[in-house]
Amino acid sequence: MKKNVIMISGRGSNMEAIIRNIQSGILKDVCSILSVYSNKPDAVGLQIAAEFGIPTHVITSKGKKRKTYTNMLLEWLKQENPDFIILAGYMKMLSSEIINEFPQRIINIHPADTSLHQGLHGYDWAFEHKLKTTKITVHFVDEGLDTGEVIGKKDVDISDCRTIEEVEQKGLKVEHQFYSECVRKILTTEHTVK
Ligand code: GAR
Repeated sequence: MKKNVIMISGRGSNMEAIIRNIQSGILKDVCSILSVYSNKPDAVGLQIAAEFGIPTHVITSKGKKRKTYTNMLLEWLKQENPDFIILAGYMKMLSSEIINEFPQRIINIHPADTSLHQGLHGYDWAFEHKLKTTKITVHFVDEGLDTGEVIGKKDVDISDCRTIEEVEQKGLKVEHQFYSECVRKILTTEHTVK
């Protein structure tokens, strides 16, 4: 069974979906969570993790120099020694020191097709471009902004959505299932570091 850290910055709905799939879904017996980490002390997801009895850890990024924050985070991650780091709405770019320490072992979910839209506001982008179908991408994290190797992409039909909120609602429903499927795939197949 692989031991993993989940990193968040806010709501934590993807984190919660993964935890529920560990309890009684497709991640049962293949995945465990060592701890949930946030760079924001007020992230709602921290309370949710605590309610599930999962240890939480915070290093506030705001107000720290990038180098200082990176060193603190790297030291903590080395102590945790996870098999994989699962980013679930972690809204900060990871420094190369951290990526190099965990090559092909950091996974992210992105609410768009990473080849078409990178960075924030993936659902707003899909809505504003009047897409009938958008995609969710799960990928390994490298030093670029959403440029890492793709693990999987999934279509979301948004043709009937009239607001950005409806697009997000539909997208998140797909994210919650698809992320666990991709995590399962990575955790259960022989994984070679490139
Ligand atoms: C999700 O839609 C996730 O795909 C997105 O943030 C949201 C987090 O929601 N991530 C990114 O945009 C990363 N570039 P959650 O905290 O409820 O899981």
